Amino acid sequence: MADVSGIIIRKAETADAAEMEKIEKTAENYPAWGAREFVKDMANRVSNMFVAEQDGKMTGFINFWIVGGQAQLNGIAVRGEMTKRGIGGLLLKKMLESAKESGCSEAVLEVEETNLPAIRLYSKFGFKKAGTRPKFYDNTGNAVLMRAEI
Ligand SMILES: CC(C)(COP(=O)(O)OP(=O)(O)OC[C@H]1O[C@@H](n2cnc3c(N)ncnc32)[C@H](O)[C@@H]1OP(=O)(O)O)[C@@H](O)C(=O)NCCC(=O)NCCS
Repeated sequence: MADVSGIIIRKAETADAAEMEKIEKTAENYPAWGAREFVKDMANRVSNMFVAEQDGKMTGFINFWIVGGQAQLNGIAVRGEMTKRGIGGLLLKKMLESAKESGCSEAVLEVEETNLPAIRLYSKFGFKKAGTRPKFYDNTGNAVLMRAEI
């Protein structure tokens, strides 16, 4: 069991966008948004973004929408050297809690079928495969659609 004491999850602010961009760059094959898109999205009323911090340093973020009774995961990333310490789990838990508070009945996401760390993380939190989207990523990689009941 990972020791997650000392890790805090807080709402992201526009000033966080540059560091969030740096974190997504540490992830291989990650469909990066970039700081400008993060800031643009924060102004969207359906947007929810949270960051993980430890000792004042950002270690990860999650970006999702809550719309039409559904939580949709747009992205989750943990700083490369900080993975496998429970941070991704804390961020995903935050999304599911927010979705519940907002009265959502389900959460959905798409993930590249070869991204096993992410698929295992999602499965651990109750997501189940709900379909596939062939050639979803840059018209080459297949996506798995996953869904969790809230
Ligand atoms: C996917 C990602 C967010 C997981 O974050 P993390 O902080 O490492 O996740 P956790 O430490 O909370 O792990 C939770 C569970 O995920 C699974 N997992 C995480 N990393 C794994 C790995 N490298 N291999 C296999 N399973 C893994 C395990 O089931 C783990 O549970 P366990 O520790 O009880 O075995 C992280 O690997 C990442 O940022 N990847 C790059 C970005 C990305 O691909 N995002 C998803 C697409 S949007």
